[in-house]
Amino acid sequence: MKPGDIDLSHPDTFEHGPPHEYFSLLRRERPVCWNEVREEPGRRLQQTRGFYSVTRHEDLVHVSRSPRIFSSALGGAMIMDMEGDEQGLAMVRTMMITMDPPEHVKYRRLVQRGFTPSMVRKLEAHIRAASARVVDAVARKGSAEFVEDLAMSLPMELICELMGIPPGDRRQVFDWSNQMIGFDDPDITSSLGDQDSATLQMWMYSNQLAARKREEPDETLMSQLANGEVDGQKISEMELNNFFVLLAIAGNETTRTATSQGMLALCENPEQYELLRSDVERYLDGAVEEILRYTSPVMHFRRTVTEDTELNGVPLRRDDKVVLWYPSANRDESVFGDDAQRFDITRDPNPHVAFGIGEHFCLGANLARMQLRCIFREMLTRIPDLRMVGAPQRLRSTLIDGIKQMPVEFTPEAA
Ligand code: HEM
Repeated sequence: MKPGDIDLSHPDTFEHGPPHEYFSLLRRERPVCWNEVREEPGRRLQQTRGFYSVTRHEDLVHVSRSPRIFSSALGGAMIMDMEGDEQGLAMVRTMMITMDPPEHVKYRRLVQRGFTPSMVRKLEAHIRAASARVVDAVARKGSAEFVEDLAMSLPMELICELMGIPPGDRRQVFDWSNQMIGFDDPDITSSLGDQDSATLQMWMYSNQLAARKREEPDETLMSQLANGEVDGQKISEMELNNFFVLLAIAGNETTRTATSQGMLALCENPEQYELLRSDVERYLDGAVEEILRYTSPVMHFRRTVTEDTELNGVPLRRDDKVVLWYPSANRDESVFGDDAQRFDITRDPNPHVAFGIGEHFCLGANLARMQLRCIFREMLTRIPDLRMVGAPQRLRSTLIDGIKQMPVEFTPEAA
């Protein structure tokens, strides 16, 4: 395979997980590489132009920290283009992940108070108790469907609680979020219509919830958004609805994936699993950081060039599309050394970019870290011999390295 033949826009390239051999080749031979997109009947990314793939850590950091030249708003944050569809672009630009400064900062300010380290620390006892309940539900059974029983509930309950979504509606919001992310996976979304319908239903739900929060304001994120202002004006319905969609998806899909992929990494690296179990408190923080680096649950985001520039010697023109590959940057030998491909829970320092970096650094990073620490602590101490008993079923996606199913067994906890 030559660098120019690798198509990172195609979900088949990710069939067995992130294509690390290709990423290594690209980092070595063409770190800023043109990716041609070939048209194919029935392919959902048909309207997509080619793009430049960024695979080195240093370049990814530079692009992420230069929003004036590498814009999230100009062409959106996804590989898929909305070219010729100004309405579509205007719509996605109401989401803060698709904004540039100075607007971006104003919108981020509306919600960031809820995600600061001190706010998340206040939630610790609550997250610990919620993690205990997740493990309580399966600990005596001796077997579980890992994703459904152990990885899914905590992120879903937490983000819904923070947003102010009542318990009875949470599963529905979760299903909509899965349909929006599973657009390349026929098991989840059979047509683009399914995705559109999930979006519409989420918007309608968000509208109703916001109306309730205007009547009865409270401490939740939806109340802050419904009653919040940017430049002295209430945010629009579309802005509010898209905030809802962004938070629901980002809060659900990512941390669930980190939990499932993290457990898979431990099972596949028994000596690291053993080391972690030997002293959970000592190794837990390092293990969570290494899980984030090694598994990189979010695989890419995109920027668009605003003026002629140059990246690692490659000239770029206005409107060129640039895609940042987090799993590749996180295994860059020039940062993580010769053992960059090794899962090592004692790795220190570990300057991974699983949460991105710069202007759009993940809003939920503190929350995600806390959740991962709590759920892994609970599993490692109460069902410490958890093991896989079947091949994990992967999500077909270039965006999230998700796992749909992963059967596991363990010695049942004593009554
Ligand atoms: C392991 C879990 C997670 C991973 C790997 C992850 C990854 C990322 C990445 C890579 C970005 C950068 C986007 C860019 O530069 O364009 C991002 C942004 C974001 N994340 Fe996360 N995320 C995680 C958990 C969460 C959670 C729990 C939330 C809950 C609200 C969240 C909300 C967001 C939001 C709102 C943004 C956009 C921030 C902005 O535009 O300023 N994420 N995330």
